[in-house]
Amino acid sequence: MKPLHFPCKKYSTKITSLGLALVLLISLASPTSSCTEQEKGSLLQFLAELSQDGGLATSWKENGTECCAWEGITCGADGAVTDVLLALKDLKGGVSPSLGNLAGLLRLNLSHNSLTGVLPLELLSSSSIIILDVSFNHLNGEMQELPSSTYARPLQVLNISSNLLRRQFPSSITWEAMNNLVALNASNNSFTGQIPSHFCISSPSLAVLDLCYNQFTGSIPPELGNCSKLRVLNAGHNNLNGTVPNELFNASLLEYLSLPDNVIEGVLDGSQIVKLGNMVTLDLGGNNFSGKIPDSIGQLGRLEELHLHQNKMSGELPSSLSNCTNLISINFKSNYFNGELSKVNFSTLPKLKTLDLLYNNFSGTVPKSLYSCSNLTALRLSGNNLHGQLSTRIGDLKHLTFLSLAMNSFTNITNALHVLKRCPNLNTLLMGHNFRGELMPEDDFIGGFENLQVLALNDCPLFGKMPLWISKLANLEMLILYNNQLTGSIPSWIKDLKHLFYLDISNNSLTGEIPANLMDTPMLHSEKTIFELPVYSGRSLQYRIRIAFAKMLDLSNNKLSGEIPLEIGQLESLVSLNLSFNELTGQIPISICNLTNLLVLDFSNNSLTGAIPAALNSLHFLSAFNISINDLEGPIPSGGQFNTFQNSSFDGNPKLCGSTLTQKCGPASTPPVTIMASKQTDYKVPFVIAFSLFFGVGVLYDQTILSRYLG
Ligand SMILES: *[C@@H]1O[C@H](CO)[C@@H](O)[C@H](O)[C@H]1NC(C)=O
Ligand SMILES: *[C@@H]1O[C@H](CO)[C@@H](O)[C@H](O)[C@H]1NC(C)=O
Ligand SMILES: *[C@@H]1O[C@H](CO)[C@@H](O)[C@H](O)[C@H]1NC(C)=O
Ligand SMILES: *[C@@H]1O[C@H](CO)[C@@H](O)[C@H](O)[C@H]1NC(C)=O
Ligand SMILES: *[C@@H]1O[C@H](CO)[C@@H](O)[C@H](O)[C@H]1NC(C)=O
Ligand SMILES: *[C@@H]1O[C@H](CO)[C@@H](O)[C@H](O)[C@H]1NC(C)=O
Ligand SMILES: *[C@@H]1O[C@H](CO)[C@@H](O)[C@H](O)[C@H]1NC(C)=O
Ligand SMILES: *[C@@H]1O[C@H](CO)[C@@H](O)[C@H](O)[C@H]1NC(C)=O
Ligand SMILES: *[C@@H]1O[C@H](CO)[C@@H](O)[C@H](O)[C@H]1NC(C)=O
Ligand SMILES: *[C@@H]1O[C@H](CO)[C@@H](O)[C@H](O)[C@H]1NC(C)=O
Ligand SMILES: *[C@@H]1O[C@H](CO)[C@@H](O)[C@H](O)[C@H]1NC(C)=O
Ligand SMILES: *[C@@H]1O[C@H](CO)[C@@H](O)[C@H](O)[C@H]1NC(C)=O
Repeated sequence: MKPLHFPCKKYSTKITSLGLALVLLISLASPTSSCTEQEKGSLLQFLAELSQDGGLATSWKENGTECCAWEGITCGADGAVTDVLLALKDLKGGVSPSLGNLAGLLRLNLSHNSLTGVLPLELLSSSSIIILDVSFNHLNGEMQELPSSTYARPLQVLNISSNLLRRQFPSSITWEAMNNLVALNASNNSFTGQIPSHFCISSPSLAVLDLCYNQFTGSIPPELGNCSKLRVLNAGHNNLNGTVPNELFNASLLEYLSLPDNVIEGVLDGSQIVKLGNMVTLDLGGNNFSGKIPDSIGQLGRLEELHLHQNKMSGELPSSLSNCTNLISINFKSNYFNGELSKVNFSTLPKLKTLDLLYNNFSGTVPKSLYSCSNLTALRLSGNNLHGQLSTRIGDLKHLTFLSLAMNSFTNITNALHVLKRCPNLNTLLMGHNFRGELMPEDDFIGGFENLQVLALNDCPLFGKMPLWISKLANLEMLILYNNQLTGSIPSWIKDLKHLFYLDISNNSLTGEIPANLMDTPMLHSEKTIFELPVYSGRSLQYRIRIAFAKMLDLSNNKLSGEIPLEIGQLESLVSLNLSFNELTGQIPISICNLTNLLVLDFSNNSLTGAIPAALNSLHFLSAFNISINDLEGPIPSGGQFNTFQNSSFDGNPKLCGSTLTQKCGPASTPPVTIMASKQTDYKVPFVIAFSLFFGVGVLYDQTILSRYLG
């Protein structure tokens, strides 16, 4: 039979879903269609309750009256609708309970739309649905409980993750009725209350339980240990406390146990952990775990990811760790681990890609066996007590992109650079707080480093000059050399670093003038402001960090002399400019008023003369301003940001006058009054504060992270 055709042209294309649905509903009358009138009605009712259907009404209309042929709908052999698969259809509005009337519906997938309102109880309590996926929508409100008399439901997969569901998570009553449940994903909502204890007593087949990114409290229910089929337990990023119950280790099929960022305490019991011989991922980071890593960890032969970071764990690493030959990622950062790293034979871990030991008390040298891990992409050993020289074998790590050795006692920087230039993929090299009192190598033959983007050699202190080899780092974006004892002038080749946008050479003994061609550095005056710190840019996405770095020029605390070059006005996207504590003379160039993105401007403690350019009040973002202790004169500009600066910004300039200063401006000028010089402030603090005020709190956090990397 020929399906009934709609006279499309007669209807306005602007017709609403509701209108069209009603029209469809009324005009569908083919007696031979295999789906029933009631099913059609239910589907059209669903359509009608949407506020935006993403073209679904049009598509269904074009496909005639036979609803089994409609886009996203599949019917079984008996003609009953079995599948409603409408993920990624740009649907908006509420989810109609009418879908619960589709008596043969097995699979309902509405994920990745913009559906709002509650999840209708009719769908949860459906006596046919086995897979229900409404993830990635904007469903809100509470999840309703099933009535306590509900008979066993067939639902096997329930994905309500990434919605806006909140308040109390459904209690055991609901889950008792779900005794066929295999996978429950409620992650990334705002559920509160305790994790229900009844899951596996009623749903013995539960294999996947994902409750991460919610606000669950209380402890992990010991009853979960009865989940004999459980493979995945993810309850990270909640407020769980207490200890991991020993019963949980009865769930011997567990492959993925992830509980990061809670307040769970206790020790890793070696006799329990061995029961989880199938474990692939163990993530307990960001909790209050203490004690040692048990020797029996070596029996977890399938282990790929071991993340114990940010806990209070201590002791030496067990040598049995080298038995976990499938390890890909180890993160032990921010604990109290100690002892020699050479206790572990890393050469048996050929798959290792990231090793993070930041902030522990490890001592000794870098174990030679580590150089066999040829797939290593990120290695962070910073913040320990390691010493010695780097082995030439580090050049065997051809995939290494991120290396941080900062805050240790490594020696021989010449050697370090010579061996590291053999790592062709290195893009981040952080080695500050090492090489105490050594000479900055001036060797022109340090080639390599083709991909280096970030170089930090701060706080050593290093003697010598800013070396020519740096000029050959063609991709360098951040150069961090503060707190050293470098002498000589700022080299004019600095302009050859075409990608440089962050230069911190403060706290050295650099002399001479600020080279005018520094302002020619292309990136310093181009528009690009977002920079992705290539931290851990390996496979493990977890370690990618996007940070909006401000363009920064910090030449403070040196012995620079001469005038501030006029060309400084070219650096229009500069966010922070610090020239304080130098011996600069002459006037503040009026071109400074071009730097309209400045948040921080510090010219304090120099010998600048003349007037403050009045047009500086047009720098609307300026939130930290300091020109104290110079020899400036005349009135302080008024208006704009200038009304917000404290007097201390201007202290120590006896010839300045202003309405808030002791010395008022005016025709009958009073004799100059000496104002006490302000103490040297930590110029990095106002920068971070100002910066975070501008870009939001998240950036303050990122800056803190950065300061950890750079040490
Ligand atoms: C339904 O119509 C759309 C056009 O709107 C077409 O792309 C799709 O293939 C049709 N589906 C079926 C099952 O005929
Ligand atoms: C639902 O559809 C999305 C998008 O196609 C898919 O990623 C997801 O796996 C589906 N859900 C289920 C349970 O199959
Ligand atoms: C929802 O969760 C189920 C079970 O874990 C999974 O099969 C499905 O792919 C998930 N849906 C999406 C969109 O990721
Ligand atoms: C749960 O859903 C989220 C998306 O909301 C997804 O990223 C995650 O992988 C899912 N969990 C499991 C165990 O499938
Ligand atoms: C959490 O849910 C929000 C809103 O649906 C979504 O934008 C975000 O990507 C989700 N996060 C994760 C980690 O899946
Ligand atoms: C686990 O199940 C057994 C038998 O079904 C039962 O005796 C025991 O009390 C359960 N344990 C927990 C912690 O629920
Ligand atoms: C866990 O937190 C709850 C509050 O959420 C508190 O009542 C309880 O005492 C805590 N338990 C432990 C062991 O700290
Ligand atoms: C589960 O773990 C508990 C505590 O570790 C133990 O007493 C019990 O015998 C184990 N086995 C079962 C089946 O509950
Ligand atoms: C490490 O592996 C070896 C050989 O497979 C085994 O004999 C030994 O018991 C394991 N050690 C530990 C601590 O698991
Ligand atoms: C190293 O990484 C490559 C690419 O990811 C992979 O094909 C190879 O198997 C890895 N080697 C080892 C020993 O795991
Ligand atoms: C430092 O390394 C260089 C180059 O590898 C080497 O020639 C020199 O002897 C080393 N210096 C010391 C003190 O070990
Ligand atoms: C100020 O910016 C303009 C372009 O916006 C540029 O042409 C001019 O040279 C700059 N002035 C100075 C003094 O750098």
